[in-house]
Amino acid sequence: MKNIASYPSTRLRRNRKNDWSRRLVQENNLSTNDLIWPIFIREGKNIIEPIKSMPGVFRYSLDKVEKLVEKSLANKIPMIALFPSTDESKKDLKGSEALNKNNLVCKALRLIKRNYKDIGLMCDVALDPYTSHGHDGVIKNNYVDNDETIKILVKQSLLQAEMGCDVIAPSDMMDGRVGAIRKSLDKNNFKLVQILSYAVKYASNFYGPFRDAIGSKKSLKSDKKNYQMSFFNTDEALREVSLDIKEGADFVMVKPGMPYLDIISKIKENFKIPVFAYQVSGEYSIIKNGINDNLFTKDIIIETLASFKRSGASAIVTYFANEIAKELK
Ligand code: PBG
Repeated sequence: MKNIASYPSTRLRRNRKNDWSRRLVQENNLSTNDLIWPIFIREGKNIIEPIKSMPGVFRYSLDKVEKLVEKSLANKIPMIALFPSTDESKKDLKGSEALNKNNLVCKALRLIKRNYKDIGLMCDVALDPYTSHGHDGVIKNNYVDNDETIKILVKQSLLQAEMGCDVIAPSDMMDGRVGAIRKSLDKNNFKLVQILSYAVKYASNFYGPFRDAIGSKKSLKSDKKNYQMSFFNTDEALREVSLDIKEGADFVMVKPGMPYLDIISKIKENFKIPVFAYQVSGEYSIIKNGINDNLFTKDIIIETLASFKRSGASAIVTYFANEIAKELK
């Protein structure tokens, strides 16, 4: 910055003195339009099951889902992300259940789309909710095989699109999957189904509670470092984004959220594409467990969400979406 005036002619506190003035100079905004709410679904009837590692977050049986949609619509939350907690008995080495048109996600998509048109539905594309080993793809010679996995992911995406999914969100980190999925969607006349690529997904320790929520924690014996990114890297994140944009991504996700604000702002600066941030399960649990005073927690949540907006994120996937909606109105 050139020619910045100095004290005492400049007093930055002048603009901060009154609330009306602070409102006039506020540089970023936060509203429920910025939020995406992830929900966990399970088999059964009339079940709202607490998740131990995520206090305040539940697994819902499908008959409970419409209420959640209505709550989100009332709060003007634009999109819900669906995550299945699949029965152990349905998991296998290849994640076959991902391609079952009566799996949890497919049933939820049909159920919601039948009655509600004004809310976006986003679904992860990856095999980890369905594999007995908990990895995002199929394993060949002790290695998550890229190209074999893509073949399944393409089918999984197509199935989700057929069931009414609006936003296909590959979260698997295989190379080349965005292009393959785009091609198959276009060929099958799903030209306007959007792709939200988890372009930059770090091999993070903050995913623990989520793996517990979808039941992949017990089965996962090793880490995901040979497909998810190292948290020491920045250039590689930009290369990931650049490839995914070329392959047809409509928006890109950075995940986890708060430890990666630098990455969000660099992507925004370099590519001018909508960037979404995922405030993941570990971040949620830390905030939820760490602070006992409830009023204080609300302000802390808003502060974290504001940090995403400031860094350049267009939207934030957060488990806090509905609980914070009241405060944002
Ligand atoms: C899996 C997936 C993960 C999350 C979303 N999709 C976990 C993982 O990669 O192991 C994590 C979300 C969270 O922690 O809230 N494809």
